[in-house]
Amino acid sequence: MSADAFLWGGATASYQCEGAWNEDGKGLGEWDVFSHGNPLNINGATGDVSCDFYHHFREDIDMMASGSQNTFRFSISWSRILPEGTGKVNEKGIDFYNSVIDYCLEKGLEPNVTLFHYDLPNAIAEKGGFANRETIDDFVAYARVCFEAFGDRVKLWATINEPRYYAYCSNMVGNYPPNHSLDFDRYFKVCYHEAVASAKAVALYHSMGLTGQIGIVIDSCNVETSPETREPELIKLKADLFYDQLVLDTSIRGELPGALVPFLRENDIDTSYIKFEDMLTFQRGKIDFLGLNVYNRMYLTDYSEGETEVFHNNRGAWSKKKEGIRIKDWFETTDDPNTKRNLWGREIYPKCMYNALMEIRGRYGDIPVYITENGHGCYETPGPDGRVEDDDRIDMMQGYIDNMIKAMDDGCNVKGYYAWSPMDLYSWVNGYEKRYGLVYVDFDDPARPRTPKKSYYWYKQLIEDYRHDRESQ
Ligand code: BG6
Repeated sequence: MSADAFLWGGATASYQCEGAWNEDGKGLGEWDVFSHGNPLNINGATGDVSCDFYHHFREDIDMMASGSQNTFRFSISWSRILPEGTGKVNEKGIDFYNSVIDYCLEKGLEPNVTLFHYDLPNAIAEKGGFANRETIDDFVAYARVCFEAFGDRVKLWATINEPRYYAYCSNMVGNYPPNHSLDFDRYFKVCYHEAVASAKAVALYHSMGLTGQIGIVIDSCNVETSPETREPELIKLKADLFYDQLVLDTSIRGELPGALVPFLRENDIDTSYIKFEDMLTFQRGKIDFLGLNVYNRMYLTDYSEGETEVFHNNRGAWSKKKEGIRIKDWFETTDDPNTKRNLWGREIYPKCMYNALMEIRGRYGDIPVYITENGHGCYETPGPDGRVEDDDRIDMMQGYIDNMIKAMDDGCNVKGYYAWSPMDLYSWVNGYEKRYGLVYVDFDDPARPRTPKKSYYWYKQLIEDYRHDRESQ
């Protein structure tokens, strides 16, 4: 593979695919505890087995390699490495990830490793998780263990997956543990501590003399306002602070967005945890690349009458709910009559890929970007011949990829694209009915057999055509 070849692959997260939740010395994670009996786990599913990547990783990596993919993004389970969150290292956890990394390299896949994807060790969650400042140093200590164990072979690292969305679901929606709802103080505090933790881990990585690159992964929240919105520029300013600037400014520019503290103070939101010394941490912890997960935009309008409320749909077709929020005197999410939504009420808007990339380039310059996730969740049942004809997924992903390529042609520095997900896996509170995989997994069969869907072959062809057209000269 040439050093500057575009990376094409798929992305997963440890809790969503590994299973083996209590094997080989793994400690409890916050999702193990939540999914075992919390009534807010409304579909009753757990990640105990999922697609059992822990025991099937060679088969999955073989499938990716045969699909012409040249990279694989996965996350490390903190509680598999440090069962209590801090202290003693579980050597069997290290062995497992060594095997995954080595097998990726053997098969020609560049490992792209995320340290934290939503799933805190329960011991850390019980101390308040990222709402507790101590978690920053715990995270950095865990990062050091990973850099020392895997840093000789892993050249692409991400600190935290979607710090904002994790904070949002855990503290605003309340569907992720620890299930706080519309808690603005806690939401901003968690986002802030995650930003400091990420910057410290980046600075540590850079100080260790390792030869790879390190970034953070953000859920792209490209903000647009509807035409009838009053004071659209003000709405956009507020929404960018709420959705993305705290992550982007701290990690790319190395500074807190200037408008953040006055905005929080004016809204009586706690700022007591913001420390002057952290400004130096942000400066020292600038990322090498940005990971961008692209699913939807934030389509907003003004909102001044009525209550603050949040809505979410973890029931899919069983519910008519859309995904969104209304915050009194800030904004509300609204409908664009011209765009479709998936059955979980999320907008499908391929152009947000182009708009998000162009906006990042406009604001932050030539930062290298990886599209670390993009995909389509659907209900799926194989036909009588066992095949899944997922034409909707193909159409949807093709639209997003076309927009990514257009942004590259218009100057955006995009280095790779990861399909969410290479195989079917657990979809957080939604359970297993919402499938994203390019490969079908039969969750009813204890052997968890895998069958490539139509999209798997489409993706392989797309990658090969891209290489032929753009990289063979
Ligand atoms: C991303 C997450 O936000 O979206 C993944 O990083 C997640 O972990 C994916 O699975 C799809 O979301 P969901 O809730 O439909 O599974």
